Amino acid sequence: MEKSTNVVWHSHTVTREFREKIKNQLGVCIWFTGLSASGKSTIASELEYELSKLGIHTYLLDGDNVRHGLNKDLGFSDADRHENIRRLAEVTKLFVDAGIVVLTAFISPFKEERDFARSLLDEGRFLEVFVEASIETCEERDPKGLYKKARAGEIRQFTGIDSPYEKPESPEIVVKNNAGSNIPGHVLQILNYLSDNKIIHKV
Ligand code: ADX
Repeated sequence: MEKSTNVVWHSHTVTREFREKIKNQLGVCIWFTGLSASGKSTIASELEYELSKLGIHTYLLDGDNVRHGLNKDLGFSDADRHENIRRLAEVTKLFVDAGIVVLTAFISPFKEERDFARSLLDEGRFLEVFVEASIETCEERDPKGLYKKARAGEIRQFTGIDSPYEKPESPEIVVKNNAGSNIPGHVLQILNYLSDNKIIHKV
């Protein structure tokens, strides 16, 4: 895959530390993973709002949205999902280097790709949040009608139906988001983790 030759890394004067100092915050990634309709985007979006109200500079990368632009050439085969996450891990790394709190909401079904994303960042800068919801719950929610289509055979390689999801083995945070879920409670759980681990100032 390595195609670029004769390119040399250029170190610039303004570093991540410098940018973090200007912003008075740390650049980190909060990586949400889970089945489609598990609640990743909803929780990430509410968390982003709470962080923004605290004056923290954030950016939310959402799987569905990124697939309209940067990754619109990719589908849902295993190879395309690998490439989807590889690119997004690299984009995340750039945002973290910019001193931003990046929230990502991708199914990211493969452990190998999530570990790759983690490996691009310094220790403590990658927080994996497993949004745990049973396939039954997700299928019942089915906000976009995609599970129904997958069951009818209209969509192939749908995660949880005929494409695998590898659960995280040791995520920093597990959010249990089955039926009767409490979104503000989940957001508070994550905010407390960030605050307790000195990733953000006390909330
Ligand atoms: S990932 O597997 O490559 O990480 P990503 O998060 O970018 O997936 O995109 C998932 C979203 O695409 C889902 O929330 C859903 O709306 C839509 N989608 C369309 N087709 C599929 C499919 N076959 N499997 C999973 N999600 C799909």
